[in-house]
Amino acid sequence: MAETILETVRLVRTYAGGVQALKGVSIQVPKSKCTAIIGKSGSGKSTLMNILGCLDAPTSGEVFIRGVPVDYTDTARLIDLRRNEIGFVFQQFNLIPHLSAQENVEYPLLFSYRPEKERKDHASALLARVGLEHRGSHYPGELSGGEQQRVAIARALISEPAVVLADEPTGNLDSRTSDDILDLIHEINRKEGTTFLIVTHDADLGDRVDHQITLHDGGVI
Ligand SMILES: Nc1ncnc2c1ncn2[C@@H]1O[C@H](COP(=O)(O)OP(=O)(O)O)[C@@H](O)[C@H]1O
Ligand SMILES: [Mg+2]
Repeated sequence: MAETILETVRLVRTYAGGVQALKGVSIQVPKSKCTAIIGKSGSGKSTLMNILGCLDAPTSGEVFIRGVPVDYTDTARLIDLRRNEIGFVFQQFNLIPHLSAQENVEYPLLFSYRPEKERKDHASALLARVGLEHRGSHYPGELSGGEQQRVAIARALISEPAVVLADEPTGNLDSRTSDDILDLIHEINRKEGTTFLIVTHDADLGDRVDHQITLHDGGVI
């Protein structure tokens, strides 16, 4: 059994207005594997990802990263977790439009104390890793959707996070480009041992990962 890198225990999230988006979700994400959370629209996938990514807090229940409970009242620690332990890949890519591809990848390291040359070299190496070594000076608006998502994956990897969370990473891409992005995620997982947690409404994706979890109406089934 692989080591668990991320775990939730009876996670509940009730939104103002009374919608209970998560109704006691307990999951374990194995280290160095690709795990998919599959569920229909409205099943609570983004709610769960936002909590795991420390962008939102649960109403009750617990999250453990590398076995350490996350204290959602400790803002400084949450910022540290977002910078150092968690990489996030969004459906809408969320690149910064006025920064080049290279600068977008480097961006999370601007808050570290790494020397400038080391930051730039690391960003260049990651751009090459995702097949975009010739696109470093291009702006997001000059890149295709697939290329933008590659830049976003490189950005998510730059702090060497414990886990990369990807919320519908292929949701805005055509099927061929989606396959390429999934291949890239798999290759990075296999070669680098990076842990990925992908959420999707696409049940077919379940066949392409090591481990799958099904979410239905705010609960694991
Ligand atoms: N900020 C919010 N306020 C109130 N209800 C929300 C909010 N975000 C999501 N919901 C509701 O919570 C449920 C789960 O949503 P979400 O986590 O976005 O699901 P998914 O990502 O699987 O489509 C839905 O019923 C949705 O309408
Ligand atoms: Mg969603």
